[in-house]
Amino acid sequence: MAQRNTYFQDEAVAQKEKIDVKNLRRLMRYAVPHKKLFIFVCVLMLVAVVSSMVTPLLLQYIVDTVVPQFEIDGKYTKFITVVCGFVLCGVAEIVITFYQQRSMGRAGHGIIADIRHDIFYRLQELSFDYFDNRPAGKISVRVTQYITELADFFTNYLMNFIMNIAKIVVVTVFMLVLSPVLTAVVYSAVVPLTAGVFLIRRAIRKLFRTHRAKVSNRTAFIVESIMGEKVIQNYNRTVYNEKVYHDLQQSSAKTWMSIVRRNELNSPVVGLFWNYGTVMLYAVAFLLMQTGAMGVTTGVVIAFLSYMGLFSTPLTQLSQIIQNLAQVSANLERIFETIDAPAGIADKEGNIDLGDVRGEIDFNDVTFSYEEGVNILEHFDLHVKPGESIALVGPTGAGKTTVINLLTRFYDVKEGSVCIDGTDVRDIHLKSLRGKVGVLMQDPFIFKGTVIDNIRYGRPDATDEECIAAAKAIFADKCIERLPGGYYEQLAERGEGLSSGEKQLISFARIVVKDPAVVILDEATSSISSDVEKLIQEALQVLLKGRTSFIVAHRLSTIRGCDRILFISNKGIAEEGTHEQLLKRRGLYYNLYNSMKQ
Ligand SMILES: Nc1ncnc2c1ncn2[C@@H]1O[C@H](COP(=O)(O)OP(=O)(O)OP(=O)(O)O)[C@@H](O)[C@H]1O
Ligand SMILES: [Mg+2]
Repeated sequence: MAQRNTYFQDEAVAQKEKIDVKNLRRLMRYAVPHKKLFIFVCVLMLVAVVSSMVTPLLLQYIVDTVVPQFEIDGKYTKFITVVCGFVLCGVAEIVITFYQQRSMGRAGHGIIADIRHDIFYRLQELSFDYFDNRPAGKISVRVTQYITELADFFTNYLMNFIMNIAKIVVVTVFMLVLSPVLTAVVYSAVVPLTAGVFLIRRAIRKLFRTHRAKVSNRTAFIVESIMGEKVIQNYNRTVYNEKVYHDLQQSSAKTWMSIVRRNELNSPVVGLFWNYGTVMLYAVAFLLMQTGAMGVTTGVVIAFLSYMGLFSTPLTQLSQIIQNLAQVSANLERIFETIDAPAGIADKEGNIDLGDVRGEIDFNDVTFSYEEGVNILEHFDLHVKPGESIALVGPTGAGKTTVINLLTRFYDVKEGSVCIDGTDVRDIHLKSLRGKVGVLMQDPFIFKGTVIDNIRYGRPDATDEECIAAAKAIFADKCIERLPGGYYEQLAERGEGLSSGEKQLISFARIVVKDPAVVILDEATSSISSDVEKLIQEALQVLLKGRTSFIVAHRLSTIRGCDRILFISNKGIAEEGTHEQLLKRRGLYYNLYNSMKQ
């Protein structure tokens, strides 16, 4: 696990400077199913943009036509018509904004729901080594915060982005029609302004990626702290942890401040060029009005100033959106990386479903390592007959759980093969394999819900009666009935509030309901107190009857009755035989047995 990324280690930051267009294009593909809504919004936007362009023209009309005409005939007709025009434009804008926001909200959330689904679905499929290499917090931040920011982008920024570009184009057209010379003057300020803003954004982009990594570190630490909260308090680590948190927070704040500092350059740059543009516009307009050249009237100048106003907001917003785009792009990198992560262990074409399983298991010359070069098992050979019960014992870290991990295909062998009824586990549909092999893990996991829901976990269609019968079969009923709510007692996340023995009994019943052909118990009985132990022995008899079974237990009493005991050590099977045979041999097992008796 040496390569595992932790909270004090940044995830690799992409060296690319540019916003990743490929990711953005892929993001857009999520929008395709919602294209009708998008087209509707685009049409609305176009109407809104055009209607906002009419206002300056109305202003020009008032100054150049309505006022001089009024001085001649004293009639209000034209003035009232223009005022009605203003009101109409205003109302259109309000109505359109309302519908646009509503539609974008709907489309945005639809898209996000699809991405969230894809990433969650992927996370469920990813093999264990993906999780081995990343802290839970760094994974959860992708599903939560990064996606929420994406949602924000869709609902608030994406349409603004398109609308602002549309506005800039339409304003330019209207300005060109009014006066090409004045348009050129405005652009002499807009071009350097845009270049300046974009240069600033470029400097910020890389920082955004670093900031993502820092936020991810902080979340990883928070999640780890929540999960280990009892140990933290018991070991008096709160003060130390506050310091760790403080450092992580500082590190994230430092990158954020660098972003803010560069961002602050934005306003002076925009202000400088904007003021330059306005002054130039007045100066050139004044000269042109003096000479009466190119049809520049007072109305045209007023309309132009209005258009410049319409120009400035989209420009500033665009630069903000582009900054947001850089952030979204950094998030997308992480999100798509997760969605694209190779499942590692996945079904391939031609995989088969297991029918009725007899339970013959073969480990054929298996070599396996979690990390390159560190073999845990080497040339491991084991052949198990249907219905045989196999016990695995040996020193901690010897590889007992690993043997089981290979049989359930939580990991794949590096060399050799693992077969069930003569079929390589890699050729069996995972769903079918895991349906036939029931595992009771070292740490039984209890989900939030009732006891009965937890028992039903492996077979959702099991009735309450079946679940209760399963609990009875393994003698767990008395223990469950002692809970205030009995089978309907609400259990907390991870089974907080239950004793280890109770948790194990519930997961025991869970296996009985699932009724697999091969049963694996990984130290399932180690935390059960001795008075329950006898009960468990009987339960085991019930559970293992007629099934091939693998039992890893530190309590040797649990495995005494097994058909074969394997002593796992030194990357393979060091000793093998029944309890009696191994005792007679006076080897490793004998020593272990004696050390336990003391
Ligand atoms: N996910 C993993 N990544 C890297 N190394 C691992 C991983 N899981 C286990 N190991 C290493 O593989 C070796 C065998 O581990 P395994 O869990 O199989 O031991 P075990 O015999 O079940 O021990 P125990 O009796 O303590 O449960 C150990 O050295 C362990 O550190
Ligand atoms: Mg183990």
